[in-house]
Parts: sequence; C-alpha cells; structure tokens
Amino acid sequence: MVSRDVVDAVSVLRRGGLVAFPTETVYGLGADAANPEAVARIFAVKGRPRNHPLIVHVAEAAAVKEWAAHVPDDGWALAEAFWPGPLTLILPRAAQVPDAVTGGAGTVGLRVPAQPLALELLGAFGGGVAAPSANRFGRVSPTTAAHVRADLGSAVDVVLDGGPCAVGVESTIVDLSRGTPRVLRLGGLSVEALSEVLGHAVEVTAVAAGEVSGAAAPGTAEAVPAPGTLSSHYAPAARVEVLAADAVAARASDLLGQGRKVGLLAPQRLEGLPPGLDGLPPAGGPQAYAQCLYQRLREADRRGLDVLLAVPPPETGIGAAVADRLRRAAAN
Ligand code: TXA
Ligand code: MG
Repeated sequence: MVSRDVVDAVSVLRRGGLVAFPTETVYGLGADAANPEAVARIFAVKGRPRNHPLIVHVAEAAAVKEWAAHVPDDGWALAEAFWPGPLTLILPRAAQVPDAVTGGAGTVGLRVPAQPLALELLGAFGGGVAAPSANRFGRVSPTTAAHVRADLGSAVDVVLDGGPCAVGVESTIVDLSRGTPRVLRLGGLSVEALSEVLGHAVEVTAVAAGEVSGAAAPGTAEAVPAPGTLSSHYAPAARVEVLAADAVAARASDLLGQGRKVGLLAPQRLEGLPPGLDGLPPAGGPQAYAQCLYQRLREADRRGLDVLLAVPPPETGIGAAVADRLRRAAAN
C-alpha cells in the first residue's frame, strides 16, 4: 500500500510541483522529468545555472529504455549489479527527453536509488523524476529532511522525511556515452566495485579540486560542466584545511595562536591536541565518515568555526569520495 504522504507527493509531481525526497545518498529536489516547466522550477529554487544537467530517477532499470537512446552492454551489466544503488549512468539521450533536463546535452543521467521511500514515490508516480541534491546552489548537500527545510523552506511543496541518508555522499557518475566507461564523479559506489563488474580498470576523469571546467558555447555537447567540478558545491562557510593526522597539533596551535576558532574533523579521536580546539565527534571509518560528512560540515558552521581541520579517511572504497569532497571544500 502506498502511504498517504507518497500519494500527496505524487499529486504534487503530476501538477508540476516540487517534491524533496530522501535517497540513500543525499536528499533530492524532484520534479516530473517530462514536464519542462516543472523542471525549470528546480533551477529557479536552487539558483542553479541552467546548463547543469539533472539526473533522472526511475523506479527500475527497465525504465532507462524510455530515457536513453541506446544502452551499451556495460550499462546493463552495471545496472544489474548496482541498481538500486548510488550509481548514475550517463547515456545517449532519447529524443523525447526535455532539454531542460539535459542542459541541451546529447546525454542523460539516470539512476535507480536504493531508498524505500524514494522507490515507493517513483513506483507510484510511474514516470521519471528529475532531481539534483535538494540544497541551494553552492551549498552542502542535505542528508536529512531538516537540512532541506533549512535550505529551501517553503520553496518546496512537499518534503518526504526518510530519516538520515544511509550513504551520505552523492552517487558515483559513470559516463557510458563515449565508448570506454569513465568515472566523472567519485561517490557512494567505489571505483573498485565498478572495475570488478566491468572486468577492467576504470578511468577516473573527475576534474581536480579547484579546477572549474571551461564551458564551451551553449548548445554544444561540451557546454555541460563536468559534474561536481565547482568546489563550492561541497564547502561550508568555515575554511577547510585537509591535512594528515600527525600535522594537526602543530597547525591547530598555530591557528589558535592567531585567535582563530578552530575545529577538527578526523576518523578517530587524536591525542596531544592543544586546548581550545573544538573537536567535532570523530567521523569513524570510511563508511561512517561518508554518512556524517555533510552533517559535520554544517555543524562546523553552526559552531561558528573560522577553520575546520579535516583529516581524510584512507582513500579506498568510499573513502576516495570522502577525500574528494574534503579537497573540493578546501579548494573553495
Ligand atoms: O546522489 C546523487 O546523485 C543525488 C541524488 C539526489 O540522486 N543527486 C545529485 O544531483 O547529486 P546533482 O544535480 O546535485 O549532481 C548531479 C551531477 C551534476 O554535477 C551534473 O552536472 C551531472 O550530475 N550530470 C547530470 N546529467 C549529466 C549528463 N547528462 N552529463 C554529464 N553530467 C551530468
Ligand atoms: Mg548537488
């Protein structure tokens, strides 16, 4: 049985409204992907440039045939192995996909999220739901319904509350539109897991922190900014400095000596730190770190920190995505 909240959310989508909903990665700000006016509202509410394409969320892998002109064998293999899950596939778009969704590009991003409420919504709606992360452009992605309300307030018609997101960082984006699969954004699904299913190493072409892709003329395929290349996407107001655990004490003393309000985010509690350093709760292993990362970045701002010293987790598995987001936050 479909819950009352989901019935309401579906009717909002049908009349062109906006529904914020939980996914396993972060909360999304959804609209009917087949309705260009509804999709335009997403850009208006987020304050996001219109050439940034949106991911279309669907209830099951079979639905990609309605949105993609062609799905290579690698696409079906990845969909079978990882959907529902934190993986977005970039595929050649089907003719009927609105330009509002693709930013005018020849490709479309598709994903089946692994979150019960999201799947209930997508199943009951029946169509594709275009959704970016449910934050204002340039802010940290929301991982609770409260984050969404704080960021978007009454601009959203409905916020479905599914509790804190289980994964905590955005989906891994794999481009299958140009032959060899390429990872465009590190995320909740590890590169190691992708390689294992594809049977070969996968190229990661995520643009380095701080680099912003030079967008070409609007209307060309190159006009789409590479995903997540704007470092400000992941940055709190506090300045983030990424450093090794054994460098924290000296750097913290230095900054505290300059009268700065300094906080620490690290996998474990560290010993021998100077008094006055505001330790956020330890983030834990890579998975736990990913899950709490955006919450902690928000917490740094709530505490009014000037500088957040961040020790990344080991860069394997999802740890690579966490380190990537910290570096982007630091580059801002
Ligand atoms: O985990 C996620 O992916 C979340 C949840 C809500 O699904 N969504 C998300 O959406 O992170 P957003 O819009 O904040 O980030 C999606 C990224 C953008 O950087 C966008 O440029 C890229 O995906 N993207 C979407 N469609 C694309 C396409 N056709 N070609 C290249 N990049 C694309
Ligand atoms: Mg986003």
